[in-house]
Amino acid sequence: SKLFRIAIDGPGASGKSTTAKQLAKKLGFGYIDSGAMFRAVTLKCQQNNIDPSDIANKDKVTEIANNAHIRFPALGQVELDGQNVSELIRTSSITRNISLVASNWAVRDILANQQRKMAKGEIPGAISTGFERHGKLVKGIVMDGRDIGTVILPDAELKVFIEADVRIRAQRRFDELKKREGDALTETVYDVERDLEARDLADYTRKIAPLLKAKDAITLNTSHLSIEEQVDAIEKMVFERV
Ligand code: C5P
Repeated sequence: SKLFRIAIDGPGASGKSTTAKQLAKKLGFGYIDSGAMFRAVTLKCQQNNIDPSDIANKDKVTEIANNAHIRFPALGQVELDGQNVSELIRTSSITRNISLVASNWAVRDILANQQRKMAKGEIPGAISTGFERHGKLVKGIVMDGRDIGTVILPDAELKVFIEADVRIRAQRRFDELKKREGDALTETVYDVERDLEARDLADYTRKIAPLLKAKDAITLNTSHLSIEEQVDAIEKMVFERV
């Protein structure tokens, strides 16, 4: 049967991934973290000493993407070439280097192809057990990113565009980094805010698949919402549509 596809887009640290993950868990849907795929390619470049910010390396970066085996073995877990990289892909150095990987047209094409296959259940990572509603079993996937509702799944059953004030997003990301890196963290919340603003700008203004709200997407501003409230809000939208 057809999968119910939820596309969640929005800027960095808007609470997209956490929301998408918990929503998937609650609904028994598969979760595809498209940002993690760009992060994994960036990590693989780093592991191969290829600087993606050097335009001369463009083809090498494409080759890396072509040979990267990215899987989601469990909710929130990311595997690259058989190795669990869930933590490794979330460092600041990956985040800072990602823009040129994300604006590489060939890389986007390779990953888009994989993302669509995952959304159809053709390659693993999106296993859905589903939920019961009106006597029928509803299965589906949640995919989050920047261009899911506009480019990857333009005919998704539900599109949500998540927004939040940059200050609040910076604080959230900072808290997350602090928790992970502890005293090793050298950045301040202002550094994080500046990085976020730079990445927002790159994401919003790049020519290829910019961060854009699809015409038929529902905007959810999460500045003053808890994760639970965000999840509940989207769950309600799903129930209204099945
Ligand atoms: O969502 P996350 O913060 O992990 O994404 C990291 C980066 O990957 C984004 O800043 C963006 O440049 C890129 N990205 C993208 N398209 C997506 C998902 C992420 O270009 N669908």
